[in-house]
Amino acid sequence: MTTAPSSGSDTAASRWRRLQADTDTVHRALDARIMAADPFRDRARYGLFLAMQIAIFRDVDALYADPALRAVFPDLATRRKLGLAEQDAADLGLAVPRLAEPAFAGTIDAPTGMGWLYVVEGADLGAPFLLQETRKIGVDETFGARHMQGPEHGRGLHWRLFTEALDAASLTAAEDARVLAGAHAAFARANVLFEAAGLSA
Ligand code: HEM
Repeated sequence: MTTAPSSGSDTAASRWRRLQADTDTVHRALDARIMAADPFRDRARYGLFLAMQIAIFRDVDALYADPALRAVFPDLATRRKLGLAEQDAADLGLAVPRLAEPAFAGTIDAPTGMGWLYVVEGADLGAPFLLQETRKIGVDETFGARHMQGPEHGRGLHWRLFTEALDAASLTAAEDARVLAGAHAAFARANVLFEAAGLSA
């Protein structure tokens, strides 16, 4: 899927656009890797994908309660996905294995956390495409894929609110470098979890 920046005047100034440009290659590679693994072929295979999702949601779960990150993203608490994904596993009668030790202990510094959240929030943009596939195996926003539910006000606005808040934060150059490192760490983690889930087999 393309993540090329749309034309606009924000390219130079936008932290989001820099993140997008800098992680475009790793995003495309991961997207292609996941789709090649045929994760929506049947419910058993979808269960592996769900295990990967749950593992990354567990990694970031403490961030949603972090005061410094809540100051950056005022609606952060509403963006938490772990509970819905755990319900998805229950819908499907799956006992989801713990794929890996947590990526970090508890919370992390806010700029690094912003990078992780950028990746987890951004991943939601692919959900409409994934739902087209899951529906074929009887899995949708009300059963088994609740974590892919779009918000009431729509995914577009939800994403815009996130990226505007990301851009509005005042950071030093060193902190900005940590945002980027956090995003890369999250993509690397997603690849590790993809393998741990057995999707690469
Ligand atoms: C399974 C296959 C995947 C598909 C089909 C997919 C698809 C998409 C699509 C369609 C977009 C929106 C692109 C745009 O508006 O230009 C997107 C954005 C994004 N995806 Fe994925 N994605 C997948 C997996 C993932 C995974 C596993 C992650 C991370 C764990 C991820 C992270 C992101 C991020 C961070 C963005 C936002 C890019 C931006 O800044 O605009 N994606 N994805």
